[in-house]
Amino acid sequence: MSRTIAIVGGTGPLGMGLASRWARAGENVVIGSRDAARAQAAAAELSREVNRPSQLSGAENSAAVASADVVVLALPFAGHATLLKQLKPALRSGAIVIDATVPLAASVGGRATRTLGVWQGSAAEETAELVSEGVRVAAAFQNLSAESLQGDAPVDCDVIVCTDDAHAREVATELAEKIPGVRALNGGALENARVLEQITALLITMNVKYHVHAAGLRITGLPVQEHALK
Ligand SMILES: NC(=O)c1ccc[n+]([C@@H]2O[C@H](COP(=O)([O-])OP(=O)(O)OC[C@H]3O[C@@H](n4cnc5c(N)ncnc54)[C@H](OP(=O)(O)O)[C@@H]3O)[C@@H](O)[C@H]2O)c1
Repeated sequence: MSRTIAIVGGTGPLGMGLASRWARAGENVVIGSRDAARAQAAAAELSREVNRPSQLSGAENSAAVASADVVVLALPFAGHATLLKQLKPALRSGAIVIDATVPLAASVGGRATRTLGVWQGSAAEETAELVSEGVRVAAAFQNLSAESLQGDAPVDCDVIVCTDDAHAREVATELAEKIPGVRALNGGALENARVLEQITALLITMNVKYHVHAAGLRITGLPVQEHALK
């Protein structure tokens, strides 16, 4: 299936890592930025690295989203609500928004090992409140470190998908499993994004304690090897 994935905040480490893995897997990816020239430069840099020039482009965030079937949010929580309000008119009805944002206190000058309280319960639930009816929201990729996405080696991490929408779950699961080594798991309702977002703060603590940069998550005891939906 030919689809376009726009990554909002795609010039950061998480967005660039996801873009590189998905372009390698044959997906069409638009890197979004507040600045079109920065987005285009990031796409050109990544194209040289992964040698997939026809599958990578860059655009200002609203323009990126306007052409997208799938939108991935990979920006600091400090800009989350403001940017979503700006993107709302550009998001296609039926589009799937996958939110990877973690409300880390670091995004407002606090500690990266703490999260902020979010009125809606989580960043992903805030997204669901701010998009138009007809836009489907899932939470995923919060616990996958950008560091682990560098290069093309298999990634030792589960990606837990939380959503209230069956199609959004299917697409988020499929995209997660385009990353070699990743197993996507059904994490239930969107409100469970509250847990996913908290776990990231714990993983950051572990990065500090163990002097690493890519602590991840594997859930044991599940009868799921490859695909969460099987
Ligand atoms: N890094 C990781 O390992 C990791 C892993 C899992 C989840 N996450 C979460 O994923 C999100 C992205 O992480 P990241 O490390 O890639 O973030 P980042 O580098 O801090 O930011 C990503 C991009 O967001 C844009 N941006 C920055 N401030 C903004 C604002 N106020 N409004 C709109 N756009 C803004 C910037 O792009 P432009 O200047 O080009 O617009 C920046 O390159 C965060 O919420 C983070 O907690 C990160």
